[in-house]
Amino acid sequence: MKKILVTGGAGFIGSEFVRQIARRGDTVMVLDALTYAGDKARLSAVKGQVSFKKVDICNASMVFKMVKNFRPDSIVHFAAETHVDRSIKDGQVFLQTNIMGTQTMLEAARLLGVARLVHISTDEVYGDVARGSSAEDAPFRPNSPYSVSKAAADLLVSSYFRTYGLPVNIVRASNNYGPWQFPEKLIPVVIYKALHNLKVPVYARGLNVREWLHVADCARGIIAVMEKGAFGAAYNIGSGIHRRNIEVVKAVLQLTGRPGSLIEYVADRPGHDFRYSINCARIQKELGWRPQVDLDTGLAETVAWYKANQGWLDRKTGQAR
Ligand SMILES: NC(=O)c1ccc[n+]([C@@H]2O[C@H](COP(=O)([O-])OP(=O)(O)OC[C@H]3O[C@@H](n4cnc5c(N)ncnc54)[C@H](O)[C@@H]3O)[C@@H](O)[C@H]2O)c1
Repeated sequence: MKKILVTGGAGFIGSEFVRQIARRGDTVMVLDALTYAGDKARLSAVKGQVSFKKVDICNASMVFKMVKNFRPDSIVHFAAETHVDRSIKDGQVFLQTNIMGTQTMLEAARLLGVARLVHISTDEVYGDVARGSSAEDAPFRPNSPYSVSKAAADLLVSSYFRTYGLPVNIVRASNNYGPWQFPEKLIPVVIYKALHNLKVPVYARGLNVREWLHVADCARGIIAVMEKGAFGAAYNIGSGIHRRNIEVVKAVLQLTGRPGSLIEYVADRPGHDFRYSINCARIQKELGWRPQVDLDTGLAETVAWYKANQGWLDRKTGQAR
């Protein structure tokens, strides 16, 4: 049993990670600013097993106080601004939270002697990959303010390993999907529109390719890195399941019993990366992690979850506007 401090634990992936570690008996403290994207309801299944503090990770004195009092064995750092479209409209808060907030967490871990910090990052730092897959040592070619802020944070984390010997890991995950995702991301947006018989906007011709990873698999991979990752190492976590956006949209429409005529092609996102793909040989060989959820099953379960929780989906969509 470990003491684990989780930033961004009221978010989509962070909360799945918290549910998994709390259920197995770890002592968990969540630090989360509860931005528009955060919601404590995601932690209702483990209420009473997890302590929660509303804290902005850019607030160094609060972060230091929390880390000092809790004395975690590990910090797992999810907190971030995460939506590419929002970063295109206004990048300021992305640089603030994703870079300066990460710096605060690194300093707290360094000065208070935390035994491991796991930083959660994204396949988007590698940018467009026309062919093949990016391994962990592939060059960074981020193309949106969001992915630039994440790449900068990754470099900072690596610099703390090299400069101070801080025991760190970096996780670069591919596109996650599953229950509780905020309806600004593709899959829950499509589910919402479909359930309300609204037009479903699809960028350009919907040909962009993403690697779809179920959030439960992602959280299991992060646990493996937290437990056994080699200090200083980055680990890609992907599913190997690549789909064009239009294929995902059509699958969701089919699962909700709605016609393809709801699809409406709209102007492309500026600077839109065409394809992401990561090579996950390292985590598979070194840590024995494998994805367990295939996309057909995961999507069907996800659609079923949103149907059963349509009140939450509708409320959050209202807040996203
Ligand atoms: N969703 C994906 O597909 C995906 C893929 C790869 C990597 N990631 C990374 O995984 C992490 C989690 O992503 P997610 O999809 O769960 O994000 P999310 O947007 O659902 O949740 C982010 C959480 O961070 C909190 N937060 C934001 N700013 C904060 C601040 N200044 N201080 C404290 N808390 C703050 C929010 O309140 C929210 O609870 C992020 O670092 C993201 O870059 C996400």
